[in-house]
This record gives sequence, C-alpha cells and structure tokens, in this order.
Amino acid sequence: MPEARSYDPAKDFIDTQDYDQREITELLDLIALLKDADKDGACPELLKDVSLGMIFEEPSTRTRVSFEVAMVKLGGHALYLRPGEIHMGARESIYDTAKVLSRMCDVIEARTLKHDTCVELARWSDVPVINGLTDVNHPTQAICDIFTMREKLGDLAGKTCVFVGDRTNVCSSTLWIATMFGMNVVHAAPPAYQAPAEWVAEAQRNVDRYGGSVTVTDDVRDAVRIADVVYTDLWWWVDQEDEIPERRAAFMPDYQVSAELMSRTPEHCIFMHCLPASRNVEVTDEVIDGPRSVVFDQAENRLHAEKGILVWRTYPRVAHDASPEIRAFHRGAAESFLASAGWDRIHPPSAPSAGTPTEVPS
Ligand code: CP
Repeated sequence: MPEARSYDPAKDFIDTQDYDQREITELLDLIALLKDADKDGACPELLKDVSLGMIFEEPSTRTRVSFEVAMVKLGGHALYLRPGEIHMGARESIYDTAKVLSRMCDVIEARTLKHDTCVELARWSDVPVINGLTDVNHPTQAICDIFTMREKLGDLAGKTCVFVGDRTNVCSSTLWIATMFGMNVVHAAPPAYQAPAEWVAEAQRNVDRYGGSVTVTDDVRDAVRIADVVYTDLWWWVDQEDEIPERRAAFMPDYQVSAELMSRTPEHCIFMHCLPASRNVEVTDEVIDGPRSVVFDQAENRLHAEKGILVWRTYPRVAHDASPEIRAFHRGAAESFLASAGWDRIHPPSAPSAGTPTEVPS
C-alpha cells in the first residue's frame, strides 16, 4: 500500500471548513437553480449514466433517500452498500475497497461510525468521496441548513442562530457553517455537554474572517431572546442509551424546546431540527408541528442540497454526451461483432404443440 496521503478538498467533500464563503455561496446558488428546475419538473440530467456508491455503517432515512433520489433526477443511479453485504472493514481493507469502487463508481457517499474511516476512504479513492455523517460532523446537513436559513431569512450576516442541547455532529457543523456566513452562533447547553474548545476555535477562525460571533453558554433563556433561528438535535444517540437517565436529568426541562422557550424569542424566529426527532424529549409536539417550525422544508432541502453537492463534486470529472459519431462508431462495432458471431439472429417462435388451440372457438 502506498504512503498515506490526505484527502483532496478539490475532489472530496469531507468538511465545510475546507472551503470559503465564496465557494459555498456558489454551491448554494447551484442548489437554488436545481431546486427551481425540479419544481418545474425539469431537473437537468447533468449526471446521466453516473453511478453513486453509498456506504452506510449506520441507518438513515433522509441521507439515503435524498442521495438516491437526487441521482435518479440527475439521470444517474445509486447503489446502497451496507456493512455485512460488502467486505469493507471485515474481509477487505478500506484501501482495496476504495480502489475497487473507484473503478466501478463515479462518486462515493459514506456514512461511517468513525470520521477516520471516511477520511481514509477519501484518501485512497480516485473518485470523489462525500461525507454523509461521521462522529465529528455532518457537512451535507450543514449545506442543507444554511440553504434553508438563507431561503427563510435572506442575508444571514448579523443574524443569530442558537443551537440548544447536546454537542452532536450537527452542532459542530452548525457552528462552522453559520459563522462562515457572518452569523452570531450560540451553543446553549449544560456545561458537561457544551461544544469543546477546538470546535469553538474552528468557528472563531470564520468569525475572524467573516464577522459575527461564537458563544457557549448554559443560559438558554437569555440566549434565545435575540434568536432568528432556534436549532436542536437529539439528546442521545443509539450508542449513548446507557446514559439516558443522566442526559435526561441534565437537559430537562430547561433545554427542551417548548412553547414556553419559543415565546421568549422574537416573533419571526424559526425552529429547525435535522431529524430524526424524539418528540416531547428535546422538542415538544407543539413546537415541531407549530407555525415557527420549518423542519419539513429543511428535510426536503436535503434532496436539493444533495443534487447540488453531487453535481459540484462529480460533473467536472465525468464524460458528458459522447458525439453522435462516437456513439455510432461503438454501436456499429458491437453490432458487427454480434452479427459475425451469429448472436444477432431472432429465433422464430416455436411451432404450436399438438392440441394447442390456435383460434378462439366462436
Ligand atoms: N438528518 C439526517 O442525517 O437524517 P438521517 O439520519 O435520516 O439520514
């Protein structure tokens, strides 16, 4: 195996922090264009005949469905590859898997338990690898979310997003993408569940460049007073179920997004959640189903975001529309071969066997 190399942000999409505001704004503009086309039933087939391999080490509704439907709308197709059904990580190295998929697929999406697995796949893959969520971040969700905020709120510079609750991979991605657009971002959580210093330092890097601010606090009631967006996520994931009693005790009732908490926000403040949600745990039914909630618009935008991300990473790398002459040449070569091998004959239907009625009796 060759020496380790890093993934390539010009090929892969692993982290929004690898790009600047101009590059992400271009991507958002592409997503808007493809969303408009889709709404007119006219999504351009920019990835005709392109194959996407989708590796999912964890379950998914939105990510899986949005990537698969996006590929069909763009004229390509997707393969769902589950551990246990492919060899990666068990009988085959990440390196070999990356090399083989690169020879058969044009782009790979990977949801991996460990961030390093996704990075390793991208390092060795010769085709783009798109991070579909790891234990560190969720960049495709972040693109969808900033697109949704821009749709709902317009110019985002100086607006405030308050992320309430656990320091999930969606929390890190929200801190990073919102500060890239000059927003004031607040993580409101009990001290034991607050964003670590390295996440805040990453966000501060954006603040130094684009303005806005990043703050961590346990005073959620004060934080939401000027919120344009209140965002929350699950309080525990499947591998944290043995921590449910202590997590519930830490977050409930102060950090539950309830009607009472939303009543402290300005009237125009919207509510976002990446989903899946635990209803009446981190958010009440009244809020998630209420007029401030944009969660299903946000979920739909995963589809439009995936179309944009797939085109952004893949379109420049794949062959487009062979000329009629090249198509005719290859078709002719194949048909000549079939004729010379005698494989082009249409066999006559077999004669009716005795007793088989040939006419319907009158
Ligand atoms: N938000 C999100 O990533 O949802 P899924 O886990 O259903 O893909």
